[in-house]
Amino acid sequence: MREEGDSPQAVLEELARIVEKDVNRFAFRALGSMCPKPLPISEIAYLIGIESNVGDPGVWEGVARLEKEVVEDLGALLSNSKAVGAIVSGGTEANILALWAARNYMKRREVIVPASCHVSFYKAANLLGLRVIEAPLTSDYTVDVEFVRRNVTKETAAIVGIAGTTALGAVDPIEELSELAIEKGVYLHVDAAFGGMVLPFLKELGYEVPEFDFKLEGVCSITVDPHKMGLAPIPAGGILFRGEELVEPITFETPYLAGGGARSFTITGTRPGGPIAAVWVLLKVLGRRGYRELVRKCMMLTERLARGIEGEEGLELLMRPVMNIVGVRAKRISVKELSLRMRRLGWLLSEFPTHLRAVLMPHHTEELVEELLRDLKRAALKGYVELRAALKA
Ligand SMILES: Cc1ncc(COP(=O)(O)O)c(C=O)c1O
Repeated sequence: MREEGDSPQAVLEELARIVEKDVNRFAFRALGSMCPKPLPISEIAYLIGIESNVGDPGVWEGVARLEKEVVEDLGALLSNSKAVGAIVSGGTEANILALWAARNYMKRREVIVPASCHVSFYKAANLLGLRVIEAPLTSDYTVDVEFVRRNVTKETAAIVGIAGTTALGAVDPIEELSELAIEKGVYLHVDAAFGGMVLPFLKELGYEVPEFDFKLEGVCSITVDPHKMGLAPIPAGGILFRGEELVEPITFETPYLAGGGARSFTITGTRPGGPIAAVWVLLKVLGRRGYRELVRKCMMLTERLARGIEGEEGLELLMRPVMNIVGVRAKRISVKELSLRMRRLGWLLSEFPTHLRAVLMPHHTEELVEELLRDLKRAALKGYVELRAALKA
């Protein structure tokens, strides 16, 4: 820090120069992120709420009310308008909260997760001192329920199912996991960080969608992130619990707050009201029809990309997409090499050990998908001589 400050204009110009590259996250060649370009109106709402702290609900009664309404709406979307929950810093915090509640409620220290789970479960287990058992996947990239069944013991606090895996958007058989959870008397958490705001709308669009939410009696909590397919600005993760008794064991009183003592179960104390205002506005402005239409567009792009990959000799589609996530690899070169070449061609995709992932978002276009297909096809060519010739063509 310098002794004397610079002029605000100079500092803001420098700031703009530095973040210019970040803003390009939404430039047309980026398909690596699960967080889409937020709708502009949500950014206005974010700014309206920017000074508020929902961690002190006695002072910030307005945003506290907005959060209640948002939780009620997300709960209703996932078949439980009486769900208890919060808008938190992201899917990671939501998953940590779920396992924290499971550990304290069950008074046990073991969790069974699918091999496809997000890294946040390993963070949670590490923080909470939980032993992790990793369940393998079946050939359709969903969790092997029989393995889970065989490994539930008296030590098991929770089992986890994913509704929209990070790598491929696969949906675990949550119905079977729910029956298992009831039968064995264990906690079931569903990570629908991405899929929670896709699957209900896919169902309304007539897609065949497996049950994954609170309609299934064994489901105790659900992660559902508005900053993913809810189109909200970051940070807006979401956690919902079936009922108050599940959150009670992780609820703490903060007595000194200016607005009077308050009880909370989030990890952070001071919490931004801006993201909550943004989510509230989005749910109201878009409504079910708005989200449905956005999901319809994403699926149209997804199906075009998937069909294009299937029709291409040098490329392989990992699985038929369930939601707007596509996994692709090349038949003749490694994933690393394909990833490197795509990056050189100016694409931002996510690299997994078995494939590259593209997430199709509402701000993407058909032209973009055609260009992606063209470049995937070129990049998948075996030799550099072929590749160079294709690039010159
Ligand atoms: C299925 C799933 N759960 C949780 C997370 C973590 O979310 P966040 O990055 O918001 O913490 C992700 C992130 O991509 C995810 O795909």
